[in-house]
Amino acid sequence: MKIVIRENEEACIDVASNIFISLIRNNRKAILGLATGNTPIKIYQKLIVEYKNGLDFSKITTFNLDEYVGLDPKNERSFHYFMWKNLFRHVNINESNIHLLNGLAEDLKQECLKYESTIEEKGGIDLQLLGIGQNGHIGFNEPTGSLSSKTWIKILSKNTLLNNFGTVEDVPRHAITMGVGTIMQSKECLLVAFGMKKARAIRDMIEGPLTSLCPASMLQMHPNVTVVIDEAAASELQLRNHYIWIEENRLDWQQMR
Ligand code: GLP
Repeated sequence: MKIVIRENEEACIDVASNIFISLIRNNRKAILGLATGNTPIKIYQKLIVEYKNGLDFSKITTFNLDEYVGLDPKNERSFHYFMWKNLFRHVNINESNIHLLNGLAEDLKQECLKYESTIEEKGGIDLQLLGIGQNGHIGFNEPTGSLSSKTWIKILSKNTLLNNFGTVEDVPRHAITMGVGTIMQSKECLLVAFGMKKARAIRDMIEGPLTSLCPASMLQMHPNVTVVIDEAAASELQLRNHYIWIEENRLDWQQMR
């Protein structure tokens, strides 16, 4: 894992958005894996600014990580709504290149299989953006789920519902999500996290044992992962100074894009 620690959220957003921008500049047909939550919002804002400066999204393809089961795309809580509001409607992306899971599909298992085969048909995800749940989930892969799972239906933990909705009543309790195995197949992963609330999950992911108790720890097995975190999210790392040392001593070709 390439660990990048920056003083604050803003500096992390710069690093993360530059990784996306340089990928899109180098590969106008890149396949992007996208995420929702508070973490990516400002990254998407930077991409929109770059679009206004000429960055072309017309041949970009996207796959989102997950979606709640039972929410209409027009529902403000759905990830469909989130993505259109925060990114898609502001750039020249071709609608037919946008892939979002359908939480209203009659046959959810079929929806999962179809999603996996579409990712494969398109040649796989070049760069997968990830946030992390306070319990170490990525996508909606909650603790103790299979670490080799493909797109599937998950029951959301109480912890996740409370974090995402502030309540467990009258909210979706299920989601469809790329599996940890799907995420592991992307060519590159970029995980971004800020704040003290994420410090424990970040520690478990980077320095903990590889365990389904922290699904994100599986990323230790991925050959090309960059983790961009602020000082607060890095505050529980035992080897914080080592990661900074490594970054200072990277060879030119190992530098961030
Ligand atoms: C949700 C999403 C995750 C996201 C997590 C953290 O549960 N399924 O993909 O990483 O929330 O969200 P936030 O960035 O708001 O902390």
